[in-house]
Order: sequence, then structure tokens, then C-alpha cells
Amino acid sequence: MAPTQDPIAQHLADYRPYPFILHQTRLDFTLKPAATRVRAALTLQPRAGVEDLVLDGGGRVTLIALRIDGAAPDPTQVERDDETLTIAAAALPRGVFVVETEVEIDPSANTEFEGLYLSGGMFCTQCEAEGFRHITFYPDRPDVMAPFDVTIRSEKPVLLSNGNPAGQGPGVAAWHDPWPKPAYLFALVAGDLVSVSDSFTTRSGRQAELNIWVRPGDQDRAGYAMEALIRSMTWDEDVYGREYDLDVFNIVAVDDFNMGAMENKGLNIFNSKLVLASPETATDADYERIESVIAHEYFHNWTGNRITCRDWFQLCLKEGLTVFRDQQFTADMRSAPVKRISDVRALRARQFREDQGPLAHPVRPERYEEINNFYTATVYEKGAEVIGMLKRLVGDEGYARALELYFDRHDGDAATIEDWLKVFEDATGRDLAQFKRWYTDAGTPHLTMEEDWDDSVRGGRLTLRLTQHTPPTPGQDDKPPRVIPVAVGLIGPNGDEVAATRILELTQAAQSFDFDGLGARPVVSTLRGFSAPVVLERPIDDRTRAFLLAHDTDPFARWEAGRDLALSALVALAQGRQAGDEFIDAIGRLAGDDDADPAFRALCLALPGDEDIATRLAALDVTPDPDAIHAARDGLARRLAEAHAERLSELYETMAVPGPYSPEAAAAARRSLRIAALGLLNRIDRGDRAEVLFGTAGNMTERMAALICLIRRGRGQAALDALHDQFGDNRLVMDKWFSVQVMSAPPAEAPAIAGRLAGRRDFDWKNPNRFRALLGGLAANHAGFHAADGSGYDFTADWLMRMDKVNPQIAARMSTAFETWPRYDAARRERARAALDRIAAMPGISRNTREMVSRMIAAGA
Ligand code: TRP
Ligand code: ZN
Repeated sequence: MAPTQDPIAQHLADYRPYPFILHQTRLDFTLKPAATRVRAALTLQPRAGVEDLVLDGGGRVTLIALRIDGAAPDPTQVERDDETLTIAAAALPRGVFVVETEVEIDPSANTEFEGLYLSGGMFCTQCEAEGFRHITFYPDRPDVMAPFDVTIRSEKPVLLSNGNPAGQGPGVAAWHDPWPKPAYLFALVAGDLVSVSDSFTTRSGRQAELNIWVRPGDQDRAGYAMEALIRSMTWDEDVYGREYDLDVFNIVAVDDFNMGAMENKGLNIFNSKLVLASPETATDADYERIESVIAHEYFHNWTGNRITCRDWFQLCLKEGLTVFRDQQFTADMRSAPVKRISDVRALRARQFREDQGPLAHPVRPERYEEINNFYTATVYEKGAEVIGMLKRLVGDEGYARALELYFDRHDGDAATIEDWLKVFEDATGRDLAQFKRWYTDAGTPHLTMEEDWDDSVRGGRLTLRLTQHTPPTPGQDDKPPRVIPVAVGLIGPNGDEVAATRILELTQAAQSFDFDGLGARPVVSTLRGFSAPVVLERPIDDRTRAFLLAHDTDPFARWEAGRDLALSALVALAQGRQAGDEFIDAIGRLAGDDDADPAFRALCLALPGDEDIATRLAALDVTPDPDAIHAARDGLARRLAEAHAERLSELYETMAVPGPYSPEAAAAARRSLRIAALGLLNRIDRGDRAEVLFGTAGNMTERMAALICLIRRGRGQAALDALHDQFGDNRLVMDKWFSVQVMSAPPAEAPAIAGRLAGRRDFDWKNPNRFRALLGGLAANHAGFHAADGSGYDFTADWLMRMDKVNPQIAARMSTAFETWPRYDAARRERARAALDRIAAMPGISRNTREMVSRMIAAGA
């Protein structure tokens, strides 16, 4: 195929194998903060005829020496540009040869945190997706894999790389990784670190040493991560039959980190907020997240590392599958229904938002300018949903057989989505040609369901008429129908289930399904377990919703009925109509149902967020008014609290967890209901309960909840000061301190508060967590970010421009605060547009931010 004529972008259609086989990689690092030397020896062999050898290498990698089979090549045969080093075919031997390079790099000047950099005096690396090219010249692409031998020379006491230890002396350590891997899985750490250690014996008897490396003083906050690691290793053996494959497994906690964590082979590197936890500093949500990310990175050892991606277009092959696996793990460790509901909430908040706006793209994109911009909710979370649907369609056994075949057939490969689907076809005999559209087509399908009851048939006939339609997305107007698994169950008029869950497979634009012999007309419980990532439109009245909230046997559908009740009320209230009585009644009844899991009740009590309401309004073609939405939500919460004050205060008292703090699910569930009750009561008790709780609670979960309540009542200052006094030197707590003030502020004041906080000396904005705390806090304050005077937009744009010069990945990622801008009113659109134009016009704008901003601007054109 001819290369696509679009020079600034990469295209899936242009894939071509690397023309050389890489047999072996040897690396030798001499670490100095400002002048690190890297010597590399690559054993290569032409795949077919000899071509020019092109190695990737960023502009700040300085070439010191180059040899081919021990001799310097003729300089006229070597070409260096900003992104590559090319050695002409004429200078290369015919068979196997060794290219040796020596380069110098400056980790101390690396503010992008990509490649080799310093964090608090510690050397560390981040190579996914294309960071290795900032360390040395290399074929930096995931389908070029080799075993690695690494030598590290440094005065730092702890020197780590991938694989197994292969010798150590004063100031030097050697590592050998026998498993061929692409460069993006390389890692190196050198620092003054201490470890929390344990060990794990695999099912087949391999002893693995487990270490979690942290800064001295942090050891007592790493225990939970270690327990989570051991649970993850056990689970992957039990459920997927996957064993660990090295003698050591190291995890390192780093304070400056662009994302959550990274699955480097045998040496996972984590953002310290996803490792360190103590009851006084971390919330229940933090503990749960630590457990799931530890699992996620560990599970990548098979889904990502042993089987990797052919190219970055296939990113969902490893990320969608690994998210799906970590979701299954959390469901098994904690409450499966609660996990499912939380995952759907997150999917709607982040992925639906993305899929319905200017940044929509397929789970497997076909074009990108900067791959770092495609580590998205669509690739990760929708990628996981697609696998869930596949499992639903082929059944649990079919799924198990397919995964077995996948590991068997592709171990050691750099694979594609075609390979993945072929495995399912071969293992189950099912044709997945139509299913593949879930990978290739962007956009969230809208599903409508209408029902009809026919008495004239004996026993009665229920007919469900399903239709699907996917709105256009950038670059794709025409959306052929997809296969959509719709899980349906039927509830009889007395509240008993009369038909168990059955999967209807919708394959056409419109299709009908009959149910006969039911006797009496049932109530339909549909999209059970959120069986497909679609927007369901269904003509249903509040009475039926309340019935489902009371009786549905599927926990997701039951929660969804409550959410629908809330949303329909909020949508009406935001448009100045009266509504909400049905919701208040039904939720009150549920709150007092002591047979229901407290965590489930807490989820039902949580009103949809401002952002959810805006999204729903936009879907109904109503321009969302952020202030009206905020007022509607406030008003409904207050009415809910007033109507059920007694029951809520009873819950607040009885859900207190006695004894020492435990992060496990049952205790966290009680706290979550307690906090939900507190949040509602706070609207009528002026913050008195919150003040007491803040002063007495021994755990961060309740203190943080109390702090939010106090801020909402305009009396948070004393608590904020107390928290600062107590934890001023704890970065992770201070991140919360920054974000909560902006997130929970009255919207009209939020941009000014953000501005004031940004002026503080301890606003260490180059630290990604701190930057995200403040800017993410504002973005999470919907009416604050969208303040009518544009101050939220301007504040955000100013800081994105400043960040772009220092760390483009973070700037580009945070620019998604603007991704819904086209749906607001003309005045807001104009201000948002001006802010985006200002960013786009910035001299020297990074490729990352340029791509994001131009996609967002194009949508409003
Ligand atoms: N592969 C990592 C994960 O999901 C995420 C990742 C991609 C990443 N690029 C990164 C992490 C850059 C840190 C920095 O598991
Ligand atoms: Zn991942």
C-alpha cells in the first residue's frame, strides 16, 4: 500500500515490518545528573535485502561514538536529523552485525518525565510509548523485541533494571532480562531507596522475591500495596492460569510521574500516590485504586509484555484487556455489583463524554499525530467494555477457551486486534466480522426499546422492538449497525422475576423479539449489568422506574432505575419545571432498606453530577446552563435531605465503623453510606456534624468527606489550616488539600480561588500530581470551570500554555477540560473558543497540545 499523503500523522494502513531482526540489546549506563553516558550494542540482522538502518533518537541525545562491527563507519554514510540516526545500507555488513553507540544525555534537564529523568534525586525512566528514543538510538517500536543485558554504574545505593539480577559490586549492578521485549518496557531506577519485601511461590514452584521500593520513611505506607500484589499474583494463577516468570518483581514509587503507573518488565514504576497509603493519609477510594492499579500493572506481565502490540494503533489490545482483567479482579476482591456500577459511572463520565464530543475516536484509532494523546478512556475503558461484550456473546466457557488459545498462540508475539478476534473465531466458531465494528467505529450507539403487550395471543405476548443508531463522529458520518448484546429480564407485577436474564443479540438497525406465555404483562428490566456501552432511550414513566428500583433483581438495572429517576427530575428542574417527588420517595425507601448493601445504597443516594446532567441535556438537544444545573442539583439534594432527615441521621450514626480502620470492602461500604448521609444532612445542619467528624475521625476517608462538607457550608478554613499544619510536608495529602478547595468551592468563586492557590509557593506546578490537583479540581467544578465570565477558561488556558513548554504530555492531557465546549451557549462558546485559539497560536506549541487543541477547535467550526 502506498504511504498515506498526510505527513504530520501516523497511519495504521502504513504499517511495515522493521527491515532488521534485533537479536540482542546490551546497555551500559554511567549515571550523572547532567551528563549520563549510555553505551549500547545492538545485534542486528537484515530481514531480507539490506536497507538503510534507521534508528530513532530524540534531538537531545548527543552522539559521541558509533561503530559497526567494531569499526567507525565512513561519516558520509551516516545521517543525523532531529528524530533519527540513519546508517546507509552500503555501510552495513550482509549478515549478523553489531551496532555500537555511545551517547550523552542530560537527565537533570528532562522536565517532560519521558526517557531518563530525575525525581527527588532519584534516576528513573518512563519509556512508553516513545521515551526510549530520548535515552539512546534504537528501533523504538513495539514490534522490535530483544532480550536485554543492562549494566548500571552509579554511586546510588539501589540500582535496578528489568529481569533478574546478574551481578553486583560497589557502584555497579548488572541485570539480565531473558524475555524478549520492546524498548517501551525498558526501565532503570537508581536511588537512595528502601524496600518492603516479601516472596511468592508460583503454582509450579518458582520462588519470586517481591520488593516495593520507596524513599526512607515511607516504608510503613507500602504494606497495603504489597498485600494487593500478592492477591493479584494469586488471582492471575487461579482465574487465568498465568504465572510469574522471573526471580524478582520490583515496584518503585516515584513522586514525579506523568500517569498512574507503568508495567515495565519485572520493574513496575508507580506514581507514589498509587503505592503509599495509611489510614491517616489515604481514603477508601485511594486504597481501592491502589489495589486495582497494582493488579493492572501486574496483569500486564502477560497481557502486554509476554504478548505485546504490533504497533501503537493496537494499544487497546493490551490496555482494554488488562483493564477488563483488573475490573474482574476488583469484582472478585470486593463487591461485584458495586464495582460494575462504579465502572459504568466512570465510563459515562469520561468515555461517553469523549465519544460524544470533538475528541471521539475508535477503540482502535487509524490515525494519530502524537500517540500519547491516545491513552484515552476510549482505548482503556471502552476497550474493556468491548471485551466484556465479547465474553457475553461467546459465553464464559468460550471466553476461557479463547484466552487459553490467545496465550498459547501469541506468547512472544507483537499482535494485532485481527489476531485477537481470530483467536475468538477459532476457539468458538463464531463469525466476528460485524463485532469488529466496535473496534473500528467511533461513537456511542443510541439504542431505543419499545414494548408491546398483545393479549390476543394465548398467555399473552410481549414484543420488544429495538433500534440502534450511532450519531456521526469526526471523520465518520456513516455508521453501519453493530452487534449489540442486550441483557433482558422480566419482573412480574408482584415483584418476582418471571424470566431470568437472557441476551438479545441486536444485529440490525431495527429488530423485534417476542416473549410468549407470560400470563400477565411484566415489567422489563433491560440492559442488565450494562451489557453494552450504549445510550438507552426508553419511554418509561417514573412509576415503572420506582417499581424497578424497588424490585429489580439485577443490581445494575436497579441502580440505573434510581439514576434515571434522578436524571429525569434534574433535567426538568434545570429547565425550570417542577419535578422530583417520585425520586425522593423511592430513594428514601431504598435508603432505609437494611437488606441492601450499604455501598449500593450509597451509590443510589449520590445524585448524578453536574456534568452528567449537562450531558443528558445535550443529548436531548437542550443547551446546558451550568448555573441552572448546579442550582437544580442543590435544590433536589436539599429536598431529599429534608424529606428523610431522620432516616439519614440514623444511618449516619449506625454506619459508623467501630474499632481500628480497615480498608477492606465491608468497612469501606459502611463508611460510604455514612458519608453519603453526611453530605445530604450537611445541607440542612449548617455543617455541625461535619465539624465534629473532621475533628474526631481517625481516618482520611471521613475527614476528607467532612472537609468537603465544611467547604460547601463556607466554613472550611479552620479545617484546611489544621490539615495543612498536620500534613504540610506530605505531598499526597497536600495534593488533596489543593484540589478539594477548588472542586468544592461555590462555582462563582472557584476560578479566583484557583488563581490564589496557584500563586502559593508550595504550588509546585511542575509536579504532575500537583498541577492535576489544581487544574483537575477546577475542571471537576462544572459551573466553576464554565463560569460565564470566561475566567475558568482563561485560568486553564494560561496554565496549559505554561505547562506545554515544560511537560507537553500533561498539558495535552489536561486540555481535555475543554472537550465539551461546543455544547454550551454562544457566549460561553465564544470565550472557550478564544481560549483555545490562544493556545493554538502559542509559538513553539508542542505536537501533543497542537493535535488536541486543533481537534477541539475543528469541532466547533
Ligand atoms: N501502560 C501504562 C498503563 O496503563 C500507562 C502509560 C502509558 C504510562 N504511557 C505512560 C504511564 C506514560 C506513565 C507514563 O498501565
Ligand atoms: Zn495499562
